[in-house]
Amino acid sequence: MSEPKTVAIVGTGLIGCAWAAIFARAGWLVRLTDPHGPTLDAAKQRIADELRGLARHGLCDDPDGAAKRLTVARDLADAVAGVTFVQENGPEKVEDKIALFDVLWEAKDGAISARDGAARKDTARRESSRPSALLQRVVIGPMGQQPAL
Ligand SMILES: NC(=O)c1ccc[n+]([C@@H]2O[C@H](COP(=O)([O-])OP(=O)(O)OC[C@H]3O[C@@H](n4cnc5c(N)ncnc54)[C@H](O)[C@@H]3O)[C@@H](O)[C@H]2O)c1
Repeated sequence: MSEPKTVAIVGTGLIGCAWAAIFARAGWLVRLTDPHGPTLDAAKQRIADELRGLARHGLCDDPDGAAKRLTVARDLADAVAGVTFVQENGPEKVEDKIALFDVLWEAKDGAISARDGAARKDTARRESSRPSALLQRVVIGPMGQQPAL
């Protein structure tokens, strides 16, 4: 059996927790990071609740097993070190995204980054001082609602 893949969930608000549940359900190891301590402290429980909610609707076979794949990282660099994929879920503020993507670019060791947000074409153009590299390494998800849907 192949080794499970690891995803870094950067930002554990509404959408970050929803993505975390999806990856954990799919068998990935999930590393969580968020600069807001209380939000990060609450994230594992919030995601476990999300998994149980999915299970109630027949959308997750083993919510407790999936919740065991969640870990909290010490910081952003720890979260993204060696991961297969980075799911970025920070606030939809252009200046914050620019700063976050510059940090991710330096720290993420070959992983692909992704984001999901409004006004994506405009923010994508402005999100990095390295636009050509951004195009090669970032998948920009369509704006949607809950990832599980
Ligand atoms: N809420 C929705 O229905 C929805 C739907 C589709 C896409 N989105 C997009 O998803 C993204 C997140 O939205 P949300 O609703 O989860 O927001 P949210 O405010 O619930 O969560 C954002 C989280 O990012 C954290 N954060 C702040 N600065 C950060 C940083 N530098 N690094 C990492 N995390 C940081 C915040 O502490 C917070 O926990 C946005 O780009 C938004 O446009 C949201």
